[in-house]
Amino acid sequence: MEKPSSPLGIFDSGVGGLSVLRAIRRELPAEDMVYFADQGHVPYGPRPLEQVRDFSEAITRFLLDRGAKLIVVACNTASAAALHSLRQAFPNVPFVGMEPAVKPAAETTRTGVVGVLATPATFQGALYASVVERFANGVTLLQDTCPGLVQQIEKGELDTPATRQILESALRPMLERGIDTVVLGCTHYPFVIPLIQQIAGPDVRVIDPAPAVARQTARLLEMSGSRRAGPRSGLLRLFTSGEADRLQSLLPRLLGEVADVRAVRWDGLKINLPQG
Ligand code: DGL
Repeated sequence: MEKPSSPLGIFDSGVGGLSVLRAIRRELPAEDMVYFADQGHVPYGPRPLEQVRDFSEAITRFLLDRGAKLIVVACNTASAAALHSLRQAFPNVPFVGMEPAVKPAAETTRTGVVGVLATPATFQGALYASVVERFANGVTLLQDTCPGLVQQIEKGELDTPATRQILESALRPMLERGIDTVVLGCTHYPFVIPLIQQIAGPDVRVIDPAPAVARQTARLLEMSGSRRAGPRSGLLRLFTSGEADRLQSLLPRLLGEVADVRAVRWDGLKINLPQG
């Protein structure tokens, strides 16, 4: 049997980061990966930034304890709340974070009106303000927090009337104001791209940042000389602070593969692995 190598550590508040994991598995098929879903605390979006920062630090420690050589913060909200402080707290660890893809949207919009879907915490963070300041370039950005959408996706409701209703409420007013591009500023949202595209029509471009994040992860590994080459299939393990069975049952649909999932418990601000 193949021996595990130092894995990539990837985390999100829940299943959202699976949209990023999926792209990283494609880009770096030989790498081992450990994914952490903080489903005991999902959603992060309405929480204070300080709290999300505390969760992110504890999860990073947990992933480093599993031997992670690089951490992907596969969550816009956690990146907004914690990326800066994570880099300070763990100066020797390479981090890949996420920010809403305003830059490519502003560069390619023809109508000059772009919709951005993200959580309240992401819109509040300094990272979003800085992205807008650097890249919006006179383009009008229409923002919506899609209340309840993350919870729908956590339940696996990718195409139910309630999910459609949330997206209609967000997108209809934006379409009336002429958007031709939608930026997905939350890693849960790529799972509802088919629905977004149905509502917005085929001419509206939907930007999923996951492939760019996967390429950036590959670049960082190359630069540090720690990229693992094939031929081998990287091992994948998942941990959740929610229910392991529930996450496992969503994997075929959201990730396109199955893998071992273990439940962990928060004990204050520390994550414990139950015995066995
Ligand atoms: N998937 C997350 C993001 O990218 C967080 C969603 C949430 O927990 O509110 O923002």
